Amino acid sequence: MEIQEIKQRFGIIGNSPLLNRAINIANQVAPTDISVLITGESGSGKEVFSHIIHQMSPRKHGAFIAVNCGAIPEGTIDSELFGHEKGAYTGAVGERKGYFETVNGGTIFLDEIAEMPLGTQARLLRVLESGQYIKVGSSKVEKTNVRVIAATNVDVYDAVKSGKFREDLYYRLNTVPLKIPPLRDRKEDVYLLFRKFTSDFTDKYRTPPIQLDEEAQQVLVNYSWPGNVRQLKNMAEQLAVLERDRIITGQTLLTYIPHEASGRNLPMRLDNQPKEDFSERDILYKVLFDMKRDMVELKKLVADIIEHGGVSANYANHSQTINQLYRDIELPGNPEAQFTLQQPVNTNNNGGNNTGNDAYNITHEAEEVEESLSLIEKESDLIRKALKKHKGKRKLAANELGISERTLYRKIKELNL
Ligand SMILES: Nc1ncnc2c1ncn2[C@@H]1O[C@H](COP(=O)(O)OP(=O)(O)OP(=O)(O)O)[C@@H](O)[C@H]1O
Ligand SMILES: [Mg+2]
Repeated sequence: MEIQEIKQRFGIIGNSPLLNRAINIANQVAPTDISVLITGESGSGKEVFSHIIHQMSPRKHGAFIAVNCGAIPEGTIDSELFGHEKGAYTGAVGERKGYFETVNGGTIFLDEIAEMPLGTQARLLRVLESGQYIKVGSSKVEKTNVRVIAATNVDVYDAVKSGKFREDLYYRLNTVPLKIPPLRDRKEDVYLLFRKFTSDFTDKYRTPPIQLDEEAQQVLVNYSWPGNVRQLKNMAEQLAVLERDRIITGQTLLTYIPHEASGRNLPMRLDNQPKEDFSERDILYKVLFDMKRDMVELKKLVADIIEHGGVSANYANHSQTINQLYRDIELPGNPEAQFTLQQPVNTNNNGGNNTGNDAYNITHEAEEVEESLSLIEKESDLIRKALKKHKGKRKLAANELGISERTLYRKIKELNL
């Protein structure tokens, strides 16, 4: 297939030599059964390329499944990929088919491959070399015919050097390396992509067309795009929806660029981000510690309320304390609105029974407080905020939350975010 046809068919925008080179490699390797290791920064298009390869292969009518190795807990990844027998481990009630069984004849896309645990790597190597695997808790050798495409946004060879990734598997996967260039290395594509995305989004939301003035075009092209095409796409969507003035200036555009990078036209590399990788335990401690502090304050508050027989002159203080508490634990919405003291208004036929009303208010508030202190709620709230702040970039969000990317993936999945 011609390169232009491929772009057309898969909605690939851009004409830079590096992008064209990647498409050519995908095109050549697609019809073979060779494993491909796709490398590239977050948001650069790795998943898009995995689809291209599958769709242009003889397996295109077979199944395709994308598995994020970073998102599956270490304890279940073997069973997800290879299946398990009934009773293979505590909680394994029935038997389970793994992806290597269900996708037989198709393609598995193993995303975030560097996160795969060593034990699973051994199983994967075996299946790549011989098509054989064994379900967890079984001793029977099964056969399958699956093509593997793997992807990573870190240097897997670093993981090899530090003993976290099997060298033999690395070479086996990397038979054909496919590097997706970061957006900053294909500046000629930036404006093309931007125009395509804004026109798609203004169509979708039925808003007037967007244009960039000269200076804005400069900003756009010279920005370093750490989140690559995904970041550009998100920005286009925001502009299409939010901006009243449809001719965008450089100044306006800068407000859509995360502030640590704005004003700087120099390429900013992701690797410059501080690499803090606290364990899940650390964040749990942190959350528990905060909860404990909040509980102490709550206890004081409740004691105070009881002591003063429900409503008292101190009520305003309680209300303030609760507000402070809410600020501390960063609840969504507007806690002030919920917790500012208001004189009970007797609009019902309760006949001015103030005590009743107040009692109701207090229980109601106490419930709210309890509910919002839920660890899970707080955690998902923080995660949501971090993701929003970093425009969905999990790596940056994980950094900010002080947890590993792997933990974040898992949490997103667990909490159904
Ligand atoms: N050349 C391109 N033309 C048009 N859209 C693109 C192009 N490259 C990527 N995209 C779009 O950018 C977004 C991000 O791409 P994709 O999900 O493939 O990135 P990724 O490398 O897998 O990211 P991550 O590492 O975060 O998983 C998707 O919406 C995809 O459709
Ligand atoms: Mg991806």
